[in-house]
Amino acid sequence: MSGLDDVIAAETRLSEVDGANGLLVICGHSLDSLAGQVGYEDVLALLLPELLFPSAEAIRAELGQARMLAFQQTAHIDGGLLRLSVTEALRALMARLPDGEDRSAALLQIAAPAVFVPALVRARAGKAPVPPHAGRGHAEDMLAMLTGAQPAPEAVRALDTYLVTVSDHGLNASTFTARVVASTRAGYASAVLAALGALKGPLHGGAPGPVLDMLDAIGTPANAARWIEAALGRGERLMGFGHRIYRVRDPRADALKSALGRLGAAGGMDAARLALAEAIERDALTALRAAKPDRVLETNVEYFTALLLEALGFPRDAFTGVFAAGRVGGWVAHAHEQIETGRLIRPQSRYVGPKAA
Ligand code: ACO
Repeated sequence: MSGLDDVIAAETRLSEVDGANGLLVICGHSLDSLAGQVGYEDVLALLLPELLFPSAEAIRAELGQARMLAFQQTAHIDGGLLRLSVTEALRALMARLPDGEDRSAALLQIAAPAVFVPALVRARAGKAPVPPHAGRGHAEDMLAMLTGAQPAPEAVRALDTYLVTVSDHGLNASTFTARVVASTRAGYASAVLAALGALKGPLHGGAPGPVLDMLDAIGTPANAARWIEAALGRGERLMGFGHRIYRVRDPRADALKSALGRLGAAGGMDAARLALAEAIERDALTALRAAKPDRVLETNVEYFTALLLEALGFPRDAFTGVFAAGRVGGWVAHAHEQIETGRLIRPQSRYVGPKAA
């Protein structure tokens, strides 16, 4: 009840999360058939056909133009913004974008995180932002804006795989937030901004940075079992494990693990780092099974997200922002779907306080 477990709060044609069987379907396509096979623009074409784009090709061009427009906001990155975390600074920049329920407001929301996150990462390193290139694919341009160089095709495919994998996932906390705000008719910018706030928490999209902190603290495979036992003994949660809906392995974890395999050294993947992560995963799953025998706690999407985004050169405090760059497609699509229902979301609470005197 307190977490709205099992409550159906919306009907959607966007995605289905089958927690019992570990399946994710996005607009009639299994995650397996999308991740690593198609680009982010192709998934946007599935999520938002009637609102935004007639075809993936049209999206590519229009998204490129929207990135150019969003880039103008990077002029507002100043010392005050750089004292914030990347996620908080992203929130501040997103808040500058115009609100509305029109197509251009939606498009700008989808484009902007992919522009703002690289610009913020560079600014924090004392580097000037790299402007977008409207002719590039979205993932390719995001990496080029991060490094200032043409990214390797392996890296582009890996980021595309990531953005596709996280693009939509049923009524997760941030997507529900987006729908609630959209239902008030506040506009896409308000819906996305609120969703970003929900994503920031460590129980949702804030977990991958702490996954790497755990890998660093453990250091070597030989230390894993002891470290994990001690952490569980202190009542801590292991970041990157467990899920509210999945009762088996999160299919997104496998999609990203495959992407890491394909990335290889050419794309920046350090084989020793991957071997450490795999050893820690094995020991964590064994320890979690022993500690919580009644509850299936499996690897979730955030575990391999951490390794993938690290290999692609994103610093760990930018991981939530990169997540937002993928999930924003789902947020906008859900906001649109909610607006179409014409219905304000307004549940009830049960009063359990003292009776009026
Ligand atoms: N490590 C250790 N114990 C855990 C973990 C974990 N990662 N996850 C759940 N548990 C424990 C809980 O403490 C609880 O124990 P208790 O019954 O003794 O109190 C038991 O398992 C059942 O957990 P729930 O509270 O029912 O799990 P819930 O559905 O509320 O939580 C969540 C899901 C928030 C993802 C949780 O598993 C967690 O905190 N994981 C770590 C953070 C993380 O990886 N977040 C990313 C999630 S994926 C995403 O949002 C994109």
